[in-house]
Amino acid sequence: MAAKPDSVQLEVRDDGIAVVTIDNPPVNALSRHVRQGICDKMREAVADAQATGIVLACAGRTFIAGADITEFGKPLEAPGFLEMIDVLDDSPKPVVAAIHGTALGGGLETALACHFRVAAASARFGLPEVKLGLCPGAGGTQRLPRVVGPEKALEMIVGGDPVGAREALAHGLADEIVDGDLTEGAAAFARRAAAEGGRPLPRIRDRDEKVAPARGDPALFDAFRKKHARRMRGFEAPEACIRTVEAAVELPFDEGMAREQKIFAELMGGGQARAQQYFFFSEREAAKIPDVPRDTATLDVGRAVVVGGGTMGGGISMCFANAGVPVSMVERDREALDRGLATIRRNYENTAARGGLTEEQVEERCGLIEGSLDLEAAREADVVVEAVFEEMEVKQETFRRLDALAPAHAVLATNTSALDVNAIAAATGRPESVIGTHFFSPANVMRLVEVVRGEKSSKETVATAMALSRRLRKVPVLVGVCHGFVGNRMLFARQREATRLILEGAPPQEVDAVLYDFGLPMGPFAMADLAGLDLGWSAETSTGSTIRERLCEAGRRGQKTGAGYYDYEPGSRIPKPSPTVERIIREFAEERQLRRRGDIGREEIFERLVYPMINEGAKILEEGIALRASDIDVVWVYGYGWPVYRGGPMFHADEIGVDRIVARMKELEAAHGEEWRPAALLERVAGEGGRIGGR
Ligand code: 3HC
Ligand code: NAI
Repeated sequence: MAAKPDSVQLEVRDDGIAVVTIDNPPVNALSRHVRQGICDKMREAVADAQATGIVLACAGRTFIAGADITEFGKPLEAPGFLEMIDVLDDSPKPVVAAIHGTALGGGLETALACHFRVAAASARFGLPEVKLGLCPGAGGTQRLPRVVGPEKALEMIVGGDPVGAREALAHGLADEIVDGDLTEGAAAFARRAAAEGGRPLPRIRDRDEKVAPARGDPALFDAFRKKHARRMRGFEAPEACIRTVEAAVELPFDEGMAREQKIFAELMGGGQARAQQYFFFSEREAAKIPDVPRDTATLDVGRAVVVGGGTMGGGISMCFANAGVPVSMVERDREALDRGLATIRRNYENTAARGGLTEEQVEERCGLIEGSLDLEAAREADVVVEAVFEEMEVKQETFRRLDALAPAHAVLATNTSALDVNAIAAATGRPESVIGTHFFSPANVMRLVEVVRGEKSSKETVATAMALSRRLRKVPVLVGVCHGFVGNRMLFARQREATRLILEGAPPQEVDAVLYDFGLPMGPFAMADLAGLDLGWSAETSTGSTIRERLCEAGRRGQKTGAGYYDYEPGSRIPKPSPTVERIIREFAEERQLRRRGDIGREEIFERLVYPMINEGAKILEEGIALRASDIDVVWVYGYGWPVYRGGPMFHADEIGVDRIVARMKELEAAHGEEWRPAALLERVAGEGGRIGGR
């Protein structure tokens, strides 16, 4: 962030309160000049005989949102965080943090070094460092447990999600909630604290009563580890965060601080933190579209229509209802509609049973979803999302009718996963209003939406689809039209090699294990079983020409039939290696006289699964289907569960080295044919010894 002169101001008011105000847009990050400013102005305020108490406040939209992440990766310039924190902590005059917006990371740590914290009712408090592959590094791991107790501290530090002001108040993290002018409220608080005099000022570092009961008893931490093991799998930072809280319980404050600093430095020097910080900026970059400026007019969506109430249509309708947008879900017949609506209700009720929603919320959301058997509902729509069968004729017919029915201003979106959005748009007389919104399954859970820009989609249509996706709490990534767009196109390339690997002799479970161990939630065969092997398959037209067809013909259509590439016990989702599948694969390979070998190692499996994805990603960039390499990474993290601590496939390509990938691909090209030929862009990057990612 560019240095801003005077980013910290001091005003000593007539009532004897010194107000130190930080003004470092956009989020008041603790850039070097801010740290310096806080140290200087605090010292001035302490030295000022007029000042009896001090308020630390922020201008703009938020309290300090943390360290300046753009400074990471280089040696930190003085003053460091701890020097600044100590200036606050050592103040002989009461210091009151006045918190609005979000006090995050180093921001909350700054507030914790103050004697008191008052907050606006809408303020939020959090230590999200874990999401950047870090632990808090300015004393937060030692102070927070002393305020809220180790259990709540674990939840906040390892989970990384913020809590609201009311919750903060209940846990003693905030001392008061101010309705009305925050700075005035904070100044009044400071005046009262100053007037009390005599008593030593409360410093969190001196408190012990919340951590003492857990001392010498690892049970709390063991239980926490066990409960969250799945969520933390593969990540380094969460376990490191747990160890810092253990230190807060077991060690005196200064020793705990030393432990925090050591762990923070180790994490900061590691690859996961680099990848997660890269991802933080990548996600924000994806929101920027060079020729569609931020201020492009967007349509205000008051009513939505979803056409098709199957797997995706139901999930998308839920997304609208969750965001409070009334939606009509249109089906072709009563039976399908009733089934769709019943599934939605069941999903909400399951969430309620787990404590995620109240019964009233279930009713409220179901109430926002109206079933319909008539596309006439589109007459009222600001946006229509089509999620009917994946067949061009069916989609075109639907769009032809929508063109006749929907108001002129409406955005018409298709959820196709691979079809040509331009051909769908051409069925209407208003292709500028047509766009793809490719949700991922389950649509009410998965965060990614590929916004597919047709060649005639207008800027307003693009901007509306992006804004609407954000309103539905999704992460939209703009992509262009091609078969499978970004995510599935790369997936197809991976699937091609996965199938070859099993024909060459690698069992499906070994192929899957390589990607699972790398950090993905599942490998290609477990994923295929989950999605269903019979997508686009029919018994009448099946020719047994692929393994997948053979499995479907054998009644093995995936998890839903209890058998696919794996066997499943009744009611279980745990894949078990299948001798039947092994036989089907062997016989298929023998028929085709394919050479099988038993020595396909994990490294080769990895290269053969991931390098084709990287190569396809490079072609996607060459063709302008994705705007930037980091957008591809956002697609893979949010759409397919690529581990965020590995940045994404394109980031990972740079970690491996593009030159190394190209050299290996050339060997594989010699062995397996031209599908392995490196994309021109990869060749060029390798030749220049450069990187394919932007950062
Ligand atoms: N450092 C540098 N830049 C930051 C930043 C930070 N901590 N936080 C946000 N920004 C930038 C964003 O990159 C974005 O820049 P752009 O406009 O050029 O893309 C701009 O500020 C606005 O950010 P958002 O688009 O995310 O704005 P929102 O209003 O949606 O969200 C926010 C605001 C909730 C503060 C969100 O930006 C956020 O979560 N920021 C990160 C908070 C964080 O992780 N803090 C911990 C940092 S690590 C730390 O403190 C270490 C310490 O323990 C020593
Ligand atoms: P589905 O088969 O579960 O649902 C489709 C529904 O559309 C059915 O209920 C059907 O009755 C209804 N329908 C068909 N023609 C209709 C018409 N003219 N009017 C109203 N309703 C009609 O299919 P699914 O999985 O929901 O897929 C829908 C679309 O979403 C497809 O384009 C698919 O490619 C895409 N998609 C699917 C994903 C998945 O994982 N299932 C992921 C992302 C996209």
